[in-house]
Amino acid sequence: MNTPTARQPDIAVEMRDIVKRFPGVVANDHVTFIALRGEIHALLGENGAGKSTLMNVLSGLYTPEEGEIFINGEKVVFHSPRDAIAAGVGMVHQHFRLVPTLTVIENVILGLDDPKFRLKLEGARAKIQSLSEQYGLKIDPDAFIWQLSVGEQQRVEIIKALYRGAQILILDEPTAVLTPQETEELFRTLRSMAEKGHTIIFISHKLDEVMAIADRVTVLRQGKVVATVAIDEVNKEKLAEMMVGRPVIFRIEKPEIEPGEEVLRVEDLHVRNDKGLPALQGVSFVVREHEIVGVAGVSGNGQTELAEALYGLRPVEKGRIFLYGRDITQASTRDIIREGVAQIPEDRHREGSVGNMGISENLIMKHYRRSPVSRGPLIDWGYVRDFARKLVKRFNIAAPSIHTKARLLSGGNLQKLILARELSSEPGLIIAMHPTQGLDVGATESVRKQLLEEREKGAGILLISEDLDEVMQLSDRILVIYEGQIMGETPGEGADRNEIGLMMAGENRSGTGDTSLQRNTSNA
Ligand SMILES: Nc1ncnc2c1ncn2[C@@H]1O[C@H](COP(=O)(O)OP(=O)(O)OP(=O)(O)O)[C@@H](O)[C@H]1O
Ligand SMILES: [Mg+2]
Repeated sequence: MNTPTARQPDIAVEMRDIVKRFPGVVANDHVTFIALRGEIHALLGENGAGKSTLMNVLSGLYTPEEGEIFINGEKVVFHSPRDAIAAGVGMVHQHFRLVPTLTVIENVILGLDDPKFRLKLEGARAKIQSLSEQYGLKIDPDAFIWQLSVGEQQRVEIIKALYRGAQILILDEPTAVLTPQETEELFRTLRSMAEKGHTIIFISHKLDEVMAIADRVTVLRQGKVVATVAIDEVNKEKLAEMMVGRPVIFRIEKPEIEPGEEVLRVEDLHVRNDKGLPALQGVSFVVREHEIVGVAGVSGNGQTELAEALYGLRPVEKGRIFLYGRDITQASTRDIIREGVAQIPEDRHREGSVGNMGISENLIMKHYRRSPVSRGPLIDWGYVRDFARKLVKRFNIAAPSIHTKARLLSGGNLQKLILARELSSEPGLIIAMHPTQGLDVGATESVRKQLLEEREKGAGILLISEDLDEVMQLSDRILVIYEGQIMGETPGEGADRNEIGLMMAGENRSGTGDTSLQRNTSNA
């Protein structure tokens, strides 16, 4: 490649020598990043490598300490996202910023300087419809946000950016929360945007997706650029190695182990969701020691409610839950924890951690009433520091110190923190919900290994995940959930993807095949 200059016509974005520091970290350390017009450019890197920070700089959320930004060859200085949007840069964050009680149209035009808000609605509707047709973004302009699926909400965010004239669209881990079908649709949209000359910058940890959709890739490691490469010069293994700095094994060994005693038994469970509608309608299954039972399904089919009911966070309407044969149907979360149940929750910010507490406090949260953390009423801070340091090392949590507040951790490092706390409690039952979502390849590998280790040690694991590859790779048995019911069960070994896919779409196979448990309990 020639030495890039800001004047080259096909360069849409040039970030030159960007430095962005936070207390104790250089999140972006002299980063130079170039994205071309009409390309899909993936940004890769380990958790905490500085990807979100760099894109927050480009979208005007952060001001860098050093460096320059050029958009279409023009030097720009952004003081806010508004400035960035005016220059044609829009960003879709991983946590959407939509108002649930407003409609799609209202959300799209919200915040635009326009005194005649009401009059504007009709014009907006036409424009939204035309954008939606042009880019294949199916959406009902009059639907309320709360009625929409996650995938649809993401479409609204994209339309919102396009409506404001975004030529450069940044998406931070856009597929982490999407179903495989929604991901396909999003990719079609992104391709059609690129064909029309937009620049797409897309952060992801899913290397298969990056290989499938990106034209070029920039890899960051510890705040620095490792390289920018064309996609046809690399493969998945090479990308992983560039990110982590060592080869990554994608296949992991899962030893044969006979399952032991029953750890969890769920019988005819009925639970309602937040809107008072049935979320689980007669779910029954068993998890034994040394066993990973996968629950596959498109999100929103009762998985969240299942995990919450098992952890004592949601009332059970009908049915029974047994832990080691003891009825815990009405037990409190605190008792359930005391019985040795660990949970890796779906929402890491709300349920999994206390943002304003440090790493070490977050790590001992489950243990602080007990020895050796507490001696009588006093907490042994020396012990806590040692304990925290060991876990930070074992789980490879990247942070300036064990006192860093949880809310300042990158997405992946926060997940590692929760895993460290939960797995260090030597649980008998682990309820793991999307345990590797948002984790980089190295961390994903290590979390999967840890779960397999817990299985060897004797834990029973309920693995709730939308990632079929993950479910198939780790599970001894797979249950497929659809609209609050188990559609069927298959052994993990040699499971048929298509078969699982059909059940995920609602085809009931529970009457056939090797589903002994189903037959015993499903007509209860
Ligand atoms: N607002 C902030 N205050 C303090 N430190 C921060 C802040 N935002 C990010 N950091 C730190 O900067 C570094 C880079 O974080 P960033 O969120 O950019 O990583 P990332 O590459 O997006 O990681 P992930 O894949 O986990 O999302 C991390 O060490 C993180 O803890
Ligand atoms: Mg990030």
